[in-house]
Amino acid sequence: MKTISLLFLLYATLFSGCLQHKEQTKENQQTSKENQQPAKENQQPAKENQQSVKENEVMVYPNLSDSLHRELMVQGAVLVHKSMFGIKSALMEALQKGGPLYALEFCNTQAIPITDSLARVLNVGVKRVAKKNRNPDNETNDFENTVYKEYVMGYIQKAIPKTRVDVDKDGHPVYYKLIDVKQECMVCHGKPYVDIPNDVATKIRALYPDDKAIDFEVGQPRGMWAITFNHILIKNDKP
Ligand code: HEC
Repeated sequence: MKTISLLFLLYATLFSGCLQHKEQTKENQQTSKENQQPAKENQQPAKENQQSVKENEVMVYPNLSDSLHRELMVQGAVLVHKSMFGIKSALMEALQKGGPLYALEFCNTQAIPITDSLARVLNVGVKRVAKKNRNPDNETNDFENTVYKEYVMGYIQKAIPKTRVDVDKDGHPVYYKLIDVKQECMVCHGKPYVDIPNDVATKIRALYPDDKAIDFEVGQPRGMWAITFNHILIKNDKP
C-alpha cells in the first residue's frame, strides 16, 4: 500500500520537461509550507499534505528490513528511470539541434540542474557518480569506490550487474545502479581525436581541465546512479 502511494506520488510530481518542472517544484515548496501544520497533526497520508510529510519528516527504521529493501529497490528504479529519461531526452534533443559541440555545452550547464530538480521533489539525492569523472562534483566517495570496484569485477567476469541498496555512513539508504557506456556516449567519452571529434575534445579540455571521463569503450562501466533517501534513517545498519 505504501509502495503504491509513493509510486503515485512519484509519477504525479516528477517532471516531463526540466523547465516545466522547476515551476512545479516551486509550487510544491509553497504548498508544503502551507501544509506544514496539518501534516504534523494529521499523519493520515491525505494526498494534499503527503508532499510535506515527505519533505519535513525523517522516517526512522531500526534496520533495513527485507520489505523496506524491496520498496527502496522499486523507488530507486523509478527515480533512475525518470532521471535517465530527463537527461537522455535533453541530451538527444541538444545533439540533434546543434551537434556534439552544442550538446557538450548543454551537458556542462544542465546535467546537474536536471538531476537536482528531480531530487528536490522527494528529499532524495539523485546523482550520477563516477571514479573516472568529468566533473569532480560527481566523484565517488570511499564506500562508492568499493561498490564501483564490484561492478568492474562483475564486468570483467561478464556477470549481469545488479542494482543494490546500501546504508551510507549517515544512516541513509542509497540505491545504486551501474551506468555503462553505449555507442552514443563515445562522441564525448571515447578516445579524444578518434571517437571524440577534434573541436569537441578541445572544448572538453577547456571546460574540464581534470577530465578523467575519456578513453572508454562501449559496454564498460562508466559510473553509477546513486539515489540517496534522505528522508529515511536506518538506526543500526550503518557501515
Ligand atoms: C555531448 C557530450 C556528451 C555525451 C554524448 C555524453 N556525455 Fe556524459 N557527460 C558529458 C559532460 C559534459 C559531463 C559533465 C557534466 C557535468 O558537468 O556535471 C558528463 C557527465 C557524465 C556522467 C557523470 C559523472 C562524471 O563523469 O562527471 C556520467 C555517468 C555520464 N556522463 C555518462 C554518460 C553516458 C552513459 C552517456 C551515453 C548514454 C553520455 N554520458 C553521453 C558529456 C556527454
